[in-house]
Amino acid sequence: MIILGGTATNGIDEKVSSLLNLKLVKIEHKVFPDGESYVRIPEQITDKDVVVIQSLYPPQDKHLIELFLVVETLSDMKVDKITVVIPYLAYSRQNRRFKEGEALSIKTILNLLRKSGASSLAVVEPHHYEELEYFDGDIKVIDPIPYISKVVSQRTEKPLVLAPDKGALNRAKRLAEILSTDYTFIEKERDLNTGEVRIKNLPELKVKGRDVVLIDDIISTGGTMVQAINTVKKQGARKVYVTAVHGLFIGDAYLRLIEAGAEEVIITNTIPQDPSKVTIVDVSEAVARTL
Ligand code: R5P
Repeated sequence: MIILGGTATNGIDEKVSSLLNLKLVKIEHKVFPDGESYVRIPEQITDKDVVVIQSLYPPQDKHLIELFLVVETLSDMKVDKITVVIPYLAYSRQNRRFKEGEALSIKTILNLLRKSGASSLAVVEPHHYEELEYFDGDIKVIDPIPYISKVVSQRTEKPLVLAPDKGALNRAKRLAEILSTDYTFIEKERDLNTGEVRIKNLPELKVKGRDVVLIDDIISTGGTMVQAINTVKKQGARKVYVTAVHGLFIGDAYLRLIEAGAEEVIITNTIPQDPSKVTIVDVSEAVARTL
């Protein structure tokens, strides 16, 4: 088995190859003056089992096209098994048609990946596990929550683990089980046109004088987390820790979290992060274990 480091890996390819003691080949890459991507696998691959690591953080479309180009090139080289590891799977939130006529983006992407020649797919904490079934091959989910829990357990004892929307409840449950504490969720509603979020049926949470750990899969604009921080702060929570797997931090999202009262933001390295702002959890070992 060899590791092929794509054009967007945030160093995870290097760490995984070193953890597994596997050869790492780096994709040669440039962008033409008109913006088109060029990729080249710089050596003839004779191995039968190749693992391509490519995250799909912004610019998502570019990183996606580069992944398709690499996978089809490997296919043309007659590699038997092409495993694609995607630390951050973009487009995963468009996993159903919220309005008639919308594209089912994740289905198209996973279909194209399979058609390009990928035989296996491994994704770090996808938005919904079921959506990976659009990939008609071997599927693996990489779980980063045990690694996030290591940091959380150093900060707080028996916190309430809270999912800021119902979709994150299973994540809250997994984290709470590792921390041997309780968990619950609040329900959010998003305006499909403006993207604004608001809390639905505000429940009474048992947070008075207690630390709270919020956990979600993605922080994008920060709107979901800000609503949740405001809710628990209003109900008397002590410190509020914000954790998520994939941190996009669009615009002033990070600042909004801090201004709302987040004690610390704990996030993985599936997307590059600024270490002066957030605490970064490395997912490389989780990837290596899954492989
Ligand atoms: C949505 O269902 C996701 O799980 C996240 O809650 C969402 O993507 C967060 O987005 P934002 O930070 O913009 O509220």
